[in-house]
Amino acid sequence: MLKKYIMSPGPTEVPPSVLLRTAEPIIHHRTSEFEKVLASVSEGLKEVFKTSNSVLTFASSGTGAMQGAVSSFLSPGDKAICIRGGKFGERWGEICKAFGVEVIAIDVPWGESVDPTSVDKALKANPDVKAVYSTHCETSTGTLHDIQALGAIVSKTPAILVVDAVSSMGSEKCLTDEWGIDIVVTGSQKALMLPPGLAFASVSEKAWALTKTAKCPEYYFSYTKARKSLEKNTTAYTPAVSLIMGLDEALKIIKQEGIEAVWTRTEEMGKAMRAGMIRMGLELYSKRPASALTSVNVPQGVNGDALPKKVRVEYGLTIAGGQDELKGKIFRVSTMGYADLMDVPMALTVIGMALKELGFDAEIGRAIDAAVEVLYAYKVRKTAK
Ligand SMILES: Cc1ncc(COP(=O)(O)O)c(C=O)c1O
Repeated sequence: MLKKYIMSPGPTEVPPSVLLRTAEPIIHHRTSEFEKVLASVSEGLKEVFKTSNSVLTFASSGTGAMQGAVSSFLSPGDKAICIRGGKFGERWGEICKAFGVEVIAIDVPWGESVDPTSVDKALKANPDVKAVYSTHCETSTGTLHDIQALGAIVSKTPAILVVDAVSSMGSEKCLTDEWGIDIVVTGSQKALMLPPGLAFASVSEKAWALTKTAKCPEYYFSYTKARKSLEKNTTAYTPAVSLIMGLDEALKIIKQEGIEAVWTRTEEMGKAMRAGMIRMGLELYSKRPASALTSVNVPQGVNGDALPKKVRVEYGLTIAGGQDELKGKIFRVSTMGYADLMDVPMALTVIGMALKELGFDAEIGRAIDAAVEVLYAYKVRKTAK
């Protein structure tokens, strides 16, 4: 027997009560019963997003909402700044190019966070830029960009700030309205504790104004159509009914803990994971690590492709390897979503044992000590509240 755990940075584990909701008999989407659920989840999402704007729901993975965040707001020939510091930052540039939008790239070395002054400079040099596209948590490198600082810069210009929060919404502090983010997109399969298949986006009035002149071709991912439908508590096309039922339950779980408490738990688990990895004798990859996931350099002499496979097949724990240029060079472990304190020492033990088998002298005991020190201090503080 092998007990299975999933600590990949998406998809993540889904709580049993959410799975049960998704398994309920289908209800028809053009009914008041479904409309009530959609209205309720749309309200619940606002609290997670920390926005007073409506949050749209699409039946797609996160990239669908990313595509619409370009095509519904810009026209071919428009200029957009794309911050690229990993696979997902690059995706913004690829989508813009696919729609004929001129990309002004700010390239950040992978594993590093964008210097906000470089965005300020690019905006001053290109006052006609319509939008700045950034990732919040760059999942391919485990790195956090300073969205609050970007918001302070972009909100003073006519450009809109569009943020990919696919792995950060519900795991990292993200104050959409307060930080001046115009469009935030996310997906269901990460911190929102659902199976893959839903994408979400909130949109500011400043961003909605752009839809009046936008001429990019679009159809399914039209934000305008989604907004019109949501005003009537419905969706433009057949929604992923079962996933929306699951979302209703997932939002209840988040509400019960409180989104701020969820951020803190994730932060402390991230801290514990990093402390454990370092004391195990490993090196972190990211220069500005996120809490949602920890990226770690594969130690010299270890086969970087063999590690995630061994951990999954022989120990039952799914983690992720590196992508693209980081393939075989790093591994990534998630602490977002349906994850609890004790997942950290479990993951450290499993990774340490697998590394030992692959020839690295992992200091497992020291790793657990370091992680538990962080987790225990957090537990005591939480209990004292
Ligand atoms: C930061 C980030 N952006 C975008 C995506 C793409 O989302 P999806 O695979 O749901 O389309 C991911 C998925 O891993 C992600 O982590």
